Amino acid sequence: METGAVLVVDFGAQYAQLIARRVREAHVFSEIVRHDITAAEIAAKNPAGIIFSGGPASVHVEGAPSIDTGVYDLGVPILGICYGAQLLARDLGGEVAQSGRGEYGRTELTVESDSLLFGATQPRMQPVWMSHFDTITIPPTGAVVTASTPDTPSAGFEDRTAGRYGVQFHPEVVHTPHGQEVLEHFLYDGCGLSPSWTMSSIIETQVELIRAQVGTGRAICGLSGGVDSAVAAALVHKAIGSQLTCVFVDTGLMRQGEGEQVVETFQRHQGIELIHVRAGDRFFDRLEGITDPEEKRKAIGELFIRVFEDAKVGLDDARFLVQGTLYPDVIESGTKDAAKIKSHHNVGGLPDDMDFELVEPLRALFKDEVRKVGAELGLPDEIVWRQPFPGPGLGVRIIGEVTRDKVAMLQHADAIVREEVKAAGLEREIWQAFAVLPDIRSVGVMGDERTYGHPIIIRAVTSEDAMTADWARLPYDLLERMSSRIINEVAGINRVAYDITSKPPGTIEWE
Ligand code: XMP
Repeated sequence: METGAVLVVDFGAQYAQLIARRVREAHVFSEIVRHDITAAEIAAKNPAGIIFSGGPASVHVEGAPSIDTGVYDLGVPILGICYGAQLLARDLGGEVAQSGRGEYGRTELTVESDSLLFGATQPRMQPVWMSHFDTITIPPTGAVVTASTPDTPSAGFEDRTAGRYGVQFHPEVVHTPHGQEVLEHFLYDGCGLSPSWTMSSIIETQVELIRAQVGTGRAICGLSGGVDSAVAAALVHKAIGSQLTCVFVDTGLMRQGEGEQVVETFQRHQGIELIHVRAGDRFFDRLEGITDPEEKRKAIGELFIRVFEDAKVGLDDARFLVQGTLYPDVIESGTKDAAKIKSHHNVGGLPDDMDFELVEPLRALFKDEVRKVGAELGLPDEIVWRQPFPGPGLGVRIIGEVTRDKVAMLQHADAIVREEVKAAGLEREIWQAFAVLPDIRSVGVMGDERTYGHPIIIRAVTSEDAMTADWARLPYDLLERMSSRIINEVAGINRVAYDITSKPPGTIEWE
């Protein structure tokens, strides 16, 4: 772990990631760990501070998540939030009562006394966000109460000598307007940290690490056009230059103009050695007659691997494979429940039996941080702000058999959807906006002619992480522009529908 980092111990709340992000917004590196980590493992990470997250449990419940109490002897400052604060109280001589009465939502907090967490500049009365059932009645031995609410006499406590701090409210949520300052006081004043974790420090550190790992070896990177592999490649290129070769498998299922853009950006602009495999014909041949969605994904995934393997034949000396793995993929959360809804054969994700050592320079970063690194490395907005796009590409947005003609039709309609969303200035607010081509036809009339054409379904969603999503409330005039342009410009389309299904029960993609 980087020096000067803060550990966020996850007690099973949905808030641990948010806390980790807020710490990073204060320019301090943070790492999430499970609560069953041992004190020795924590000591080995040599953190500058520790934050206990909230959690859904009551400390009084049998089997409630706890922490190795050896952590209290490490001399590292600890901030407990909500459940984490209750745990500090319970473990360190205080008391947590089952008041029988919870406190949920916005509450008025009174700062009682001189306090490190609240500092001198914060208002003595401030709104905070609460979500707890039990109440701390006695703070840990040696701690003083620093804040209260009408229902929680010790809503804040601290023992500066021992480096123990607790807040019953959630400083990490936006509904606690002064919450970020509370976190920053803990980091800067409580842990003695400085705001030194910046995009340029991330790049510098990673460049050093990549050089140390790869040495004089050769690395390859599969580019998908997506932001993760693009930023990983640009970072590795900065570190080892011509020792990196990128492979871009153009499946023919990309969006309009995307293949050219990858070549333009990486080969011409960044000067990266790029093998561009135009494999559209092979994919269309392989997909002929396949209508079942799972079979389709499987076919695309398998062929992708074969094409990639063929492409790297001339690169047999490459021992390193660069991958754009992100932090949310590697966090070991005690609660993560990855129900498999669709097989995400990640095209671009390669099989385990490939004999490579992985280079994963983005493993510690969240998506928005990856975008900032990409911008800092000079990647264009179209790549840095590219919306997520499924590995199997337009193959999962064409219901039924995938053919060249259908892909061309969908690419055209999809380009119109994206152009109009961009022109309306909504591109960054919307998680994904795209077109789907279903396997039906309906009757219409254009001019004096009867038509029997395909509909296009527009799908636009807002989301934080794609686990859940809501359909975007696009303005009617925007929908109207998309509809009339698609019908006028894309031959074979005579109807446009808007998908108003959230996730769940729908998924974002149609297949
Ligand atoms: P769903 O459709 O499951 O999609 O709600 C959630 C997110 O994942 C993307 N997606 C994929 N990404 N390979 C990928 O790399 C896939 O096979 C795949 N299927 C869906 C989808 O675009 C959305 O952002």
